[in-house]
Amino acid sequence: MEETLLRISEVSKHFGGVYAVNGVSLDIKSGSIWGLVGPNGSGKTTLFNTVLGLFRPDEGTIYFDGRCISNLAPHEIYALGLVNAFQLPRLFPGLSVLDNMLVAARGHQGDRLLNSLFLRKSWQRQEAELADKAVEALELLQLEHLAFSQAGELSGGQRKLLEVGRGLMASPTLLLLDEPAAGVNPKLGRRIFEGIEDLRRKGLSFFIIEHRLEILFDFAHWVYVMDKGKIVVQGKPEEVVENPAFYQVYLGE
Ligand SMILES: Nc1ncnc2c1ncn2[C@@H]1O[C@H](COP(=O)(O)OP(=O)(O)OP(=O)(O)O)[C@@H](O)[C@H]1O
Ligand SMILES: [Mg+2]
Repeated sequence: MEETLLRISEVSKHFGGVYAVNGVSLDIKSGSIWGLVGPNGSGKTTLFNTVLGLFRPDEGTIYFDGRCISNLAPHEIYALGLVNAFQLPRLFPGLSVLDNMLVAARGHQGDRLLNSLFLRKSWQRQEAELADKAVEALELLQLEHLAFSQAGELSGGQRKLLEVGRGLMASPTLLLLDEPAAGVNPKLGRRIFEGIEDLRRKGLSFFIIEHRLEILFDFAHWVYVMDKGKIVVQGKPEEVVENPAFYQVYLGE
């Protein structure tokens, strides 16, 4: 059953005179992998940051789960289950993989956890629940055998998967990923997307910016193509690659 998770309606964001995002409307429905591609500087990251509450849109409205989130703070949007895994605080290379997962969860529990320090039983129960959740996420990503390895010893691809894992600690319904396969070799890039596809089968939804089109297009169900702040082409990957306008965007003016 597909429902609209994220609705971006006529959203613009400018920096001085430059429209980084210029009247973008798009829908992200549940249960799929949605791609966002486009040349450097076309506005992809700015659109993500606007959705995540890091920038306020100059025009337009953003809805998540049917609720207007345009004026919410980033931590409020995070708490609703709209999470950018790569914007969490950096990994601690000297801590174990498991501890990095737990730190990610605690960092966002804030006052509630502090209060419960005075209620030792409930605190211990919460810690145990978090540990269970962390192990479950590591299993999903096939990283459980590395739970007690130092994060600093992971390969580039494993580190990316761990960052996705840390995002899972928020129990998100929609994960935004900005270039998950950047800087890793093609085989690992594919392995990262296979991990993403496994999570999608478990019910998660993804909105992914990626320059490695040859990988993204094998996994995405729908692709939005951005150029100069606007969505100029959209469709299934196999339709997009047949569209001359798609090549025009990459060939430039
Ligand atoms: N904080 C900022 N202040 C001023 N201008 C910005 C800021 N962030 C982005 N821009 C400008 O907005 C435009 C879009 O940038 P953005 O980073 O969103 O592009 P992008 O599609 O993510 O590019 P890339 O593929 O290289 O990551 C660019 O012209 C950029 O210089
Ligand atoms: Mg970017």
